[in-house]
Amino acid sequence: GDVKLWGGRFADGPAAALEKLSASVHFDWRLAPYDLAGSRAHARVLHTAGLLTAGELTAMLASLDALEADVASGAFTATVADEDVHTALERGLLEHLGPELGGKLRAGRSRNDQVATLFRMYLRDHARILAGLLAELQQALVGLAEAHPGVAMPGRTHLQHAQPVLFAHHVLAHAQALSRDAERLRQWDVRTAVSPYGSGALAGSSLGLDPQAVAADLGFEGGSSANSIDGTASRDFAAEFAFVTAMIGIDISRIAEEVILWATKEFSFVTLHDAFSTGSSIMPQKKNPDIAELARGKSGRLIGNLTGLLATLKALPLAYNRDLQEDKEPVFDSCDQLEVLLPAFTGMLATLTVNRERLEELAPAGFSLATDIAEWLVRQGVPFRVAHESAGECVKVCEAQGIELDQLSDEQFAAISPQLTPEVRSVLNVPGALASRNGRGGTAPSAVAVQLAEFKEDLAAQ
Ligand code: ARG
Repeated sequence: GDVKLWGGRFADGPAAALEKLSASVHFDWRLAPYDLAGSRAHARVLHTAGLLTAGELTAMLASLDALEADVASGAFTATVADEDVHTALERGLLEHLGPELGGKLRAGRSRNDQVATLFRMYLRDHARILAGLLAELQQALVGLAEAHPGVAMPGRTHLQHAQPVLFAHHVLAHAQALSRDAERLRQWDVRTAVSPYGSGALAGSSLGLDPQAVAADLGFEGGSSANSIDGTASRDFAAEFAFVTAMIGIDISRIAEEVILWATKEFSFVTLHDAFSTGSSIMPQKKNPDIAELARGKSGRLIGNLTGLLATLKALPLAYNRDLQEDKEPVFDSCDQLEVLLPAFTGMLATLTVNRERLEELAPAGFSLATDIAEWLVRQGVPFRVAHESAGECVKVCEAQGIELDQLSDEQFAAISPQLTPEVRSVLNVPGALASRNGRGGTAPSAVAVQLAEFKEDLAAQ
């Protein structure tokens, strides 16, 4: 390497094997715009502290702007000899400004406080990108709910038919989970809006620089780190980001799994749009839910990124250790994966066709109205324990005879329990069962309409 940030006390340059191991520029180059923004802010506080003249500051800012343009156009690129993005851009600045003035920018900062700051800036930008993509996904779910008002479906527990629910209610359950993920991103951002710049290598700076000014310059609403050791050594912001992205992946994987099931011949609940499904190279008839499968698969990868980072951080002594260079790739990967996944996943949901007849036909199947018999009996004054028993017997008789609950005769009902008068039939239909669950959060069309309206309001306010 040509430009090294040290060398004074070394007789020899690093071994090639060390350079190869040490290099991070192939993955931290994406921090370049943030590194340059940090350098501009740092130049300004050097000037404020009297360590750069006004003329020197102007020249330095002009060079940083020129370097930024060269980075953007590709005229300036990192070479294999540049260890990391910070070193590469330092070389670029020295090439522009010469060693005399160019060499002044390093005063009072370290790559340790630089990288901790730039990583936060990068992730804050990507948290906003992810929140936008997440809002589009939530919007697609709202669209599905709104496009199918009043459609019933079999609600399941243990994947077994449980009770009929409104399709919109089911879809909004996924949307609710995603809105908490969006909230997690916003709350994470408040904690992460603290700038470590000025922490130096670990102990702060003796040069009278103002970390609060740098923080304000770089858009950190929470100011600068209260503790320079913590500023350079903490990575819980990265771990928390990895958790939130993993949670998004997991929440999406739960939608994905259902789409995969729903698109099977056996379920036949939905049909995927051609543009959002794939074929088989050998089986001409195949139409595969690859987007949903990739979502399911990538959720595992996102979990891996989180657990890998946690393992890197475990038992790491204060302050900076080079282990921390392992922090970026997993978290960058989590951003990259979700940023390609979310638009495809949203497109898949926004374009799928719902088989309304099939959903409604299956809604009452599997004796899913048995609870309604029990609750009807409770309203007649029967203790629930007894009511549950009677409704269970109704199911037993139906199963033995291969019929549904509403096909039981008046005599059969009466034989099971004298309280099971023919009026019980009033609850043995799906619309009645749905409409009766009209408390807050319930599956009645009236309750789901309230939920939908509240949800849309919250989504618009995000
Ligand atoms: N590339 C390093 C990282 O990503 C930052 C440089 C700090 N290196 C050092 N030897 N102090 O963590």
